[in-house]
Amino acid sequence: MTNPLRTPLCETLGIAHPIFGFSHSVDVVVEIAKSGGFPVLGLAREMPHEIPQILQEVDARMQGRPYGVDLMLPSQVPRQGNIQEVRAALPGAHVDFVQRLRERFAVPAPTKPSFFTTQVRSEELFESQIEQVLASNAIGIATAIGLRADLIARAKARGKLTFSLIGSTRHAQKALALGVDVLVAQGYDAGGHTGSIGTFSLVPQIVAVAGNTPVLAAGGIGTGGQIVASMAMGAQGGWLGTLWMAAAENHTPPALLQRLMDSGSEDTVITRAHSGKPCRVVRSDWIDAWTAAGAPEPLPMPMQQALTGDVFASMHENDDPYLIYEAAGQSVFAIRKPTTVAAQMAELTAQMHASLGQINAWGELRSR
Ligand SMILES: Cc1cc2nc3c(=O)[nH]c(=O)nc-3n(C[C@H](O)[C@H](O)[C@H](O)COP(=O)(O)O)c2cc1C
Repeated sequence: MTNPLRTPLCETLGIAHPIFGFSHSVDVVVEIAKSGGFPVLGLAREMPHEIPQILQEVDARMQGRPYGVDLMLPSQVPRQGNIQEVRAALPGAHVDFVQRLRERFAVPAPTKPSFFTTQVRSEELFESQIEQVLASNAIGIATAIGLRADLIARAKARGKLTFSLIGSTRHAQKALALGVDVLVAQGYDAGGHTGSIGTFSLVPQIVAVAGNTPVLAAGGIGTGGQIVASMAMGAQGGWLGTLWMAAAENHTPPALLQRLMDSGSEDTVITRAHSGKPCRVVRSDWIDAWTAAGAPEPLPMPMQQALTGDVFASMHENDDPYLIYEAAGQSVFAIRKPTTVAAQMAELTAQMHASLGQINAWGELRSR
């Protein structure tokens, strides 16, 4: 029997379920693939010299299963990014504000180097990331925030499928003109950097302009029913990010997992305090401090991260129950207990079939 929930894009990619999972964790990515979804590994937060080793590990563990990789490539970043130099040029009022917060919250310095404490998003960094993902065995390359004609052309020339996260029809049209293979319509509800249109309003608009280019729905999706709803709007699957943070394979710091389990959709907010660009995160005392009276406007990307990256690294290293936050979507409502990727995939697919069954059952009731 054919599976009514398997879309043409599933056929193209050779996957069982129209479930696309974005994660920064290799362990999550491997498990999504094993469960029949299409995983996309975020590499935008990795130290550049560690990316080749990460990709080698993914290849070894994936055993030929298809997967994608993702980069975040905003324009208007400096040509070169030396974090010491960027830090030295930060406005004094911002530096003082963050220093006062460090003292008030007793934030220790992080002990390990990380992307957030050593890197500045710059053209030079992006070029090295691009070279590495092009050389990888990933069959898909996704990009967010910026569209790069050169990367898209080079990826396609290597036979890779290109995915672009977009938040408006204007972005979609640009991506289509560059020949992007899959549009990921990412709504305002989404965790991470996002635009201003909600997923439920965005998806039909993107489907309407996409022609034969497949569209995926992203943002706020935490149940299989929502994936079926996306498909009813013309999307060929759902692209989920927040949900996987509940899985053991994500190694989410315990205080962050507790915060996610305790949070509702209304506890996620759009802030520029994380990166300098609008980004939906789950609130914490750190995020709230940036909207309190007297707080300065966050600095633009990449300066805001140079200003606060050590605090972000420290709160994660120390699992600080008051400060810890992460990018998270309105889909956080679906995180209620610790789980595993396999259990989540089983639940999502069961919910998808149940939703379809429900719709069919209504039809049968009416026809009696
Ligand atoms: C913790 C976290 C980090 C993210 N980082 C990136 C990223 O580096 N690149 C990217 O394209 N999308 C990133 N996203 C967005 C996801 O790709 C996806 O669009 C989003 O999570 C979908 O909405 P949801 O969080 O409600 O599922 C991130 C999302 C989360 C939750």
